[in-house]
Amino acid sequence: MEKIISIKNLNYTYPESKSPAIKDVSLDIYKNEWLSIVGKNGSGKSTLTKLIDGLIEADSGTIEIAGQVINDNNIWEARTKIGIIFQNPDHQFVGATVEDDVAFGLENQGVPREKMVDEVDQALSLVKMSDFKKRDPQSLSGGQKQRVAIAGVLATKPQIIIMDESTSMLDPDGRKTVLDLVEELRRQQDLTIISITHDIEETELSQRIVVLSDGQIVKDDKPINIYDIGPDLTKYGLEEPFSSELMSTLRDSIKLPDGYLNEEELMKLLWKLH
Ligand SMILES: Nc1ncnc2c1ncn2[C@@H]1O[C@H](COP(=O)(O)OP(=O)(O)OP(=O)(O)O)[C@@H](O)[C@H]1O
Ligand SMILES: [Mg+2]
Repeated sequence: MEKIISIKNLNYTYPESKSPAIKDVSLDIYKNEWLSIVGKNGSGKSTLTKLIDGLIEADSGTIEIAGQVINDNNIWEARTKIGIIFQNPDHQFVGATVEDDVAFGLENQGVPREKMVDEVDQALSLVKMSDFKKRDPQSLSGGQKQRVAIAGVLATKPQIIIMDESTSMLDPDGRKTVLDLVEELRRQQDLTIISITHDIEETELSQRIVVLSDGQIVKDDKPINIYDIGPDLTKYGLEEPFSSELMSTLRDSIKLPDGYLNEEELMKLLWKLH
């Protein structure tokens, strides 16, 4: 597998803070992978993404993106490969209308005007916000703002998309639409997805889950092995998956195999036993 991001021995302490927010973190992220980063509030997830995107500079350690160790000279080029969607989209709006806002990233890339109009329309239609293109972004609901922020990132066609709880304000349908879309783009366009989330269903789409605790990586494993942790998952800022909760209850009366099954697998098994 080809590495797209390679982080080595990263440390970071905020200037006004005494204790480090990121402690000796090393992590390789592979091309076309969907990686989930989970952890309790304050565990360092957003700080890690800000370091990757060069918004803050590490005290020590290195970050390599697409084969280049990031430094002051190449950070701007590296950032064009990354699209980041934050928790709170309010801080991301720059345009007076929704379409201006989505166009902003394309303008920066020097995309010709005609092509830009098409690409903005396309991105807005993907997130089902075409009807709102003349609106002031500030006048939208939280979920609509998140959709526009997502469209802005999709339009620039980055190699890496970082979602920092970017679907947290969407309703279940909206969340599913966006996540399915991201997964489709990942497959079609060889994208790498890093998703920070407290939502167990969102982690089910990923190939790997990294757990941060107090600025350190404490687990790095396939989702099924992480779900096996069971009720203790709450210690890591995640809820136990419904199927594993159900399996623990059922084990009192039926013999079930060890290990995690998702809802569909569990249902098939129960049908067979029945
Ligand atoms: N601008 C800042 N100045 C000082 N300390 C900060 C700053 N931003 C974050 N921190 C501290 O750094 C630590 C890690 O914060 P971070 O925002 O990375 O956590 P997080 O895992 O993203 O949490 P959440 O799930 O709440 O978003 C916390 O202790 C936080 O208080
Ligand atoms: Mg955060």
